[in-house]
Amino acid sequence: MVSFRDKLVHAPVAYTFRDVIIVPGFAEVEPSEVDLSTKVTKSFSIKVPIVSSPMDTVTEERMAITLARLGSLGVLHRNCSKERAIEMARNVKEASEVIDSVPTLSPNDSVARALELMREYDIDVLPVVDGDGRLLGTVIKVDVLLSLSEEPVASIVRRDIPILDTAADVSYAASLMRESKLTALPVVTKDGRYLGFIRAEMLSTREKGVEPSRGRDGRLLCAAAISPFDIDRARALDRYVDILVIDVAHFHNRNCINATKRLVKEVSADVVIGNIGTYKAAEDVVTGIERVDGLRVGISSGSICSTGEVTGAAAPTLFAVAEVADALKDYGLEIPVIADGGIRSAADAAKAFAVGAWCVMCGYLFAGCDESPSPVVRIGGKLYKYYRGMGSHAARVQRYILDRYSPVAKHVAEGIEALVPYRGPVSKVLREFVAALKAALGYAGAKSIRDMWEKARIAVITEQGAGEIRPHSVEPL
Ligand code: IMP
Repeated sequence: MVSFRDKLVHAPVAYTFRDVIIVPGFAEVEPSEVDLSTKVTKSFSIKVPIVSSPMDTVTEERMAITLARLGSLGVLHRNCSKERAIEMARNVKEASEVIDSVPTLSPNDSVARALELMREYDIDVLPVVDGDGRLLGTVIKVDVLLSLSEEPVASIVRRDIPILDTAADVSYAASLMRESKLTALPVVTKDGRYLGFIRAEMLSTREKGVEPSRGRDGRLLCAAAISPFDIDRARALDRYVDILVIDVAHFHNRNCINATKRLVKEVSADVVIGNIGTYKAAEDVVTGIERVDGLRVGISSGSICSTGEVTGAAAPTLFAVAEVADALKDYGLEIPVIADGGIRSAADAAKAFAVGAWCVMCGYLFAGCDESPSPVVRIGGKLYKYYRGMGSHAARVQRYILDRYSPVAKHVAEGIEALVPYRGPVSKVLREFVAALKAALGYAGAKSIRDMWEKARIAVITEQGAGEIRPHSVEPL
């Protein structure tokens, strides 16, 4: 047995995002020429390499539809009944590619807020939804302009505006627009949940440079989280989704591996396995399970995660990705690695790519977007959205997660509840993320994510240095 002293003295360093920098390299292409397309699983490609976490304050159908439309992917959460999980997946699959995500108002929002949003999004209609995301009606510009700014929008909401269902095709939407003389109509699911708007402009001109992520059926790409122990739900979802994402905090566990061995034989969708965080975990997964179509990698780096604090255990995302990517290389396997947790910016994503990630998963960045399921809250003039860990007390009391961090399996909370800054629409967040990521690859001298694996060099930076490479010594305006 190794000596305790040696265990300590020879301990590896688990570097993560804030510890390292990308060393600039010789660039042969301009950032605008960088290609960010990648694979999220063995069978499915995405153009934008950032996918949303399966969390109940991040990804329901609205987020999933928007991300797939914009060339990325949202993984539907599983903190709900099997029926609701299936309904979400069906809604994504039935959704038209022309649904545009328009921000919502709640009945108590003021007319002034409605006007602010109409100007910002250059739209004359806005949806009003209740606390469960169900459409109550529509507010139109003429009513907004003719009302007092402090009045609640509830007093001007129109309930007679035609509504489209998810499956409405382009020609039906166009004919309803002609008939109603409205240039945008809301789309809702069968049970009345608001999904977005179809706008007249989108029917005639396709958005430039946007290519949706698609499944084998040609419809929007759809992924849903599952437990490895709920074969029944996995089979039911398998009829609708392209990708099943195993959603377990610590997958490197005998029972999880044995259950997943059975599960992969029962479903035809690609299966992403996780979360794992070490070389050994990757080795045991790829040698023990017949089919592994993707790996979700990183333990304890999540912004709302308290696992490391509560248990002392962690495989921070950067460290974990390097470990897993090396194992795959040693086994000669090309399995997409999804870096999951702690990614706050394109800079973090670029560092993950430098050590072998294929794409990144993020809850934090998307929770603050219009398309996440939680409502906007205003505190002291600033706007926020509610975001919670799936192992937080509040999420666990919903009692649906019976294994990831449930009261049955564990007795402590491993996540927290929080507020994140409101960021506006996903399209804006993705646009900024893509631009920064292309710049990062440009500095590294890489023209693609695959190129990053080879070319990007990493250096460790001191705490002092980390302070120097941010704006410093000045009062930012
Ligand atoms: P973020 O983008 O840094 O907020 O991290 C999101 C990731 O944190 C998710 O994709 C999960 O892997 C992980 N996660 C979600 N809920 C919890 C929790 O309650 N405890 C620990 N990790 C969590």
